Amino acid sequence: MADDQRTFGVAVLGAGRMGLTHIRTLAGIRSVHVVVVADPDPAAAERGRGVARADRATTDAFDAIRDPAVEAVAIVTPTSTHAVYIEAAVTAGKAVWSEKPIALDLVETTRVVESIRRSGQPVQLGFMRRYDPGYLRAKERIESGELGRIETFRALSRDTYPPPLDFLRTSGGLFLDMAVHDLDLARFLVGEVEEVQAWGANLVDDRFAQAADIDTAVTLLRFRDGALGTVETARHSAWGYDIRTEVAGAEGKVVIEAGQKTPLTFSRRFGYEGDHFENFPDRFAVAFQRELEAFVAAILAGETPTPGPMDALETLRLAVAVTRSWSEQRPIRVADVQA
Ligand SMILES: NC(=O)c1ccc[n+]([C@@H]2O[C@H](COP(=O)([O-])OP(=O)(O)OC[C@H]3O[C@@H](n4cnc5c(N)ncnc54)[C@H](O)[C@@H]3O)[C@@H](O)[C@H]2O)c1
Repeated sequence: MADDQRTFGVAVLGAGRMGLTHIRTLAGIRSVHVVVVADPDPAAAERGRGVARADRATTDAFDAIRDPAVEAVAIVTPTSTHAVYIEAAVTAGKAVWSEKPIALDLVETTRVVESIRRSGQPVQLGFMRRYDPGYLRAKERIESGELGRIETFRALSRDTYPPPLDFLRTSGGLFLDMAVHDLDLARFLVGEVEEVQAWGANLVDDRFAQAADIDTAVTLLRFRDGALGTVETARHSAWGYDIRTEVAGAEGKVVIEAGQKTPLTFSRRFGYEGDHFENFPDRFAVAFQRELEAFVAAILAGETPTPGPMDALETLRLAVAVTRSWSEQRPIRVADVQA
């Protein structure tokens, strides 16, 4: 059989909100056969099995990882479980695609990155914005040199709704849970960051203060090559999911902003109406699909999938530096943040 017709077996761990999205994508990829869906909630596992048309459902993630028909494991479980499942899968000789992050602290992440390195298994993490067509095109333009020397980076993310209090308590906080996507983009589009300074505030909802967290923040970045940046983060937006990014250089700039969801505007005398994306599932639907397609293509081609463990580690280091700057109310050099 020609290699591009090869089918490989995948186990999906976690069939919740994101799990079902990823299961639908995997089920639609010709070279993938979803062997097993695991979730401690039997109804969720069975629902996932049905959507994937998988051979079986199980409530035991380790049973799914060990299945001899499984070559790759897709991990879409709560964040606190990613590390243990990634380690178990690579140790069992399986390739891994996992939702970000590996873990919320540098010690655990560094340990898992080392296990992955020892295993030699390919691992990709779900920083999906890197697969959004807008961000991909921006990256190409920047790398082609068309913008000239990069001078500034601006990113703004506003979530439509604040998350539940229970989620907030274990989320890792505004910077590790949410700003991390913009911090990853800063590294992806411009390069490594030398120093950060962050301010945070509670302007949206008292529950953030109850969870010892903030709901609004502004972060300043100084890149290693001298460029400067800002990241604005808010847990609430009354007008819809608001994600905007700009990279400006000596010769030009790129702006990444999804205008509206429905390709219809209504105009009349001095009036104009369009709609906004509601949240990440609709704004990043294409990116969620392409990140998995890219993983499968890399595995079939014997190439290293990206973004990999080192990107996850360095983006986490940056997010930890920003968190520390906010809590200690001082600038932090990223290189000073060690496990
Ligand atoms: N990339 C993104 O933009 C993005 C967006 C949303 C969520 N996520 C990440 O996706 C992951 C899952 O989030 P979600 O929103 O689908 O959560 P969810 O709570 O909707 O689903 C999690 C599922 O995992 C199951 N589960 C719980 N413990 C488990 C265990 N030990 N082993 C196996 N399954 C277990 C639960 O029963 C549930 O069905 C999280 O890490 C989250 O950070 C990423």
